[in-house]
Amino acid sequence: MSIQAIKTAVVSEITDTEITDTKSSIETSLHLKKIPQHIAIIMDGNGRWAKGRNLKRSDGHVQGAKMVNGIVTHCSELGVKYLTLYAFSIQNWGRPQEEVNTLMNLLVNYIVQEKETFIRNQIRFETIGRLDDLPSFVKDPISMLKEETASLTGMRLTLALSYGGREEIVEATKKIAKLVQSGALNADQIDEKTVQKYLYAPDLPDPDIVIRTSGELRISNFLLWQSAYTELYFSDVPWPEFEEKDIDTAIAHFQNRERRFGLTSEQIQGGQKLNS
Ligand code: FPP
Repeated sequence: MSIQAIKTAVVSEITDTEITDTKSSIETSLHLKKIPQHIAIIMDGNGRWAKGRNLKRSDGHVQGAKMVNGIVTHCSELGVKYLTLYAFSIQNWGRPQEEVNTLMNLLVNYIVQEKETFIRNQIRFETIGRLDDLPSFVKDPISMLKEETASLTGMRLTLALSYGGREEIVEATKKIAKLVQSGALNADQIDEKTVQKYLYAPDLPDPDIVIRTSGELRISNFLLWQSAYTELYFSDVPWPEFEEKDIDTAIAHFQNRERRFGLTSEQIQGGQKLNS
């Protein structure tokens, strides 16, 4: 079945149906009604991929950047509503300058080159993180693409750039503390919704699944607040080789999990309403 046919099926499906995506070399059946609403990906393994081929780390990032568009388009066609990619952490500023420069250039190239993909697929482009840390040759095209895609109604692609989960929580805490200090907020009124309101993207729903490529079993300061009940999936495939079929495999695993949000299996199967 072609991707377009899958897309049509997503739109027209009334009952849950299994679709076999023949783009996959291992056939993966996806329940189209259970496509995760929000997928977040830690794109890891560029450096090791390059080292294994006697290449420079930067070459790994170049190859990694080539994989991004295929995954973005595939997720959009599957009906994923939110895709968040961890492209550059606050801690990544500490890497060798040549590597940082390569990553900045790759980001700009991606943003400029794929504008048409965004428009064609109705993808809204957003970022989370300390955007002001980025050099203006990166920040300016990012701001332009955000503006140009702000009204698009398809999948929302969020790049985490100069992002850190702890830093995000610290920044939110400072804003809340200032409100308390000024008398605008009573400390006893602070709840989860208050914290959520001061995160980088308060309207971004929590990820249903965080995928990390390349075999490492860590969360690395990514979406710490938001992933409290997120399903984690670790793939051995390095990001420079991570293809559509690998996303399908991750989604198939997600679809076989039972999300309990602190309740029991019996409660979930009995249809008990979830608080979160
Ligand atoms: C982690 O691999 C990856 C990064 C720090 C950067 C990810 C960037 C890209 C995939 C390319 C540019 C992004 C876009 C959106 C165009 P690593 O270098 O830490 O790998 P290692 O663990 O093998 O060293």
